[in-house]
Amino acid sequence: MSKSNVGNDNLSYFGFDKIYSKDKLEKIADVFSSVAPKYDLMNDIMSLGMHRFWKSFSIQCCNIQPDSTVLDVASGTGDLAMKIADQLHNTGTLYLLDLQKDMLEIGRDNMINSGFVGNIHYSVADAERLPYFDNMFDCLTIGFGLRNVTNINNALAEFYRVLKPGGKLMVLEFSAADPMVKDLYNWYSFNIIPWLGDVIANDRKSYQYLVESIQMHPDQGQLMKDILRSGFSTCLYENMTFGIVSMHLAYK
Ligand SMILES: C[S@@+](CC[C@H](N)C(=O)[O-])C[C@H]1O[C@@H](n2cnc3c(N)ncnc32)[C@H](O)[C@@H]1O
Repeated sequence: MSKSNVGNDNLSYFGFDKIYSKDKLEKIADVFSSVAPKYDLMNDIMSLGMHRFWKSFSIQCCNIQPDSTVLDVASGTGDLAMKIADQLHNTGTLYLLDLQKDMLEIGRDNMINSGFVGNIHYSVADAERLPYFDNMFDCLTIGFGLRNVTNINNALAEFYRVLKPGGKLMVLEFSAADPMVKDLYNWYSFNIIPWLGDVIANDRKSYQYLVESIQMHPDQGQLMKDILRSGFSTCLYENMTFGIVSMHLAYK
């Protein structure tokens, strides 16, 4: 199975393990239920705070206009959603969607504690089966969520369906690191991240999954091809931190 086809009708990858596709959703929901309480703290520690910059930059690139309707898929604890709400300036409508209700509940609390309360909707659902009408959103964002879905192509097709013509898709995800830093990055990923998961969150297994899922995710070029194959008319990407993370921006 190639990385461009991680997930087909029958088989999928859960980290490095090949599993039945039908079992993946439950396994992913268990991972994120387990990591939810320490998720925000772990993000700051593992990325040395860099995830804040990756997210701010990516949302700035979306150039969200007041009065627009925006969906943040795999919203989790709401980091991207809070930045989107900031750009909407209390206008427009924002939807947060996540598979895992524990993550989304923290997201809702974070939104409320940051003063974002008006015209915001929360849904627990799978990115491959979005509970929305066709052509509904001006912008759809997904941050560090795409590599967890069972079938990336199904999710991209759903993103295309719910976006308005001319609407924007922004995918922020781990990617293929530059060869210059790859060895060091891999050493850090496989040795330090699971250890941090163990020490800080008492959960080595979930963080081992996180590292493996990054390795199995399509690289920048392949993801761009997958996005274009889903029907999007243009797609470009920007690497951040030596390509450890990339941001793809595409238009319907
Ligand atoms: C690594 S977190 C990212 C959260 C947030 N977007 C951020 O950037 O911090 C991944 C999120 O994707 C959610 N997720 C995983 N698979 C999903 C799916 N198939 N549909 C919707 N959400 C999913 C998880 O529950 C989790 O909250």
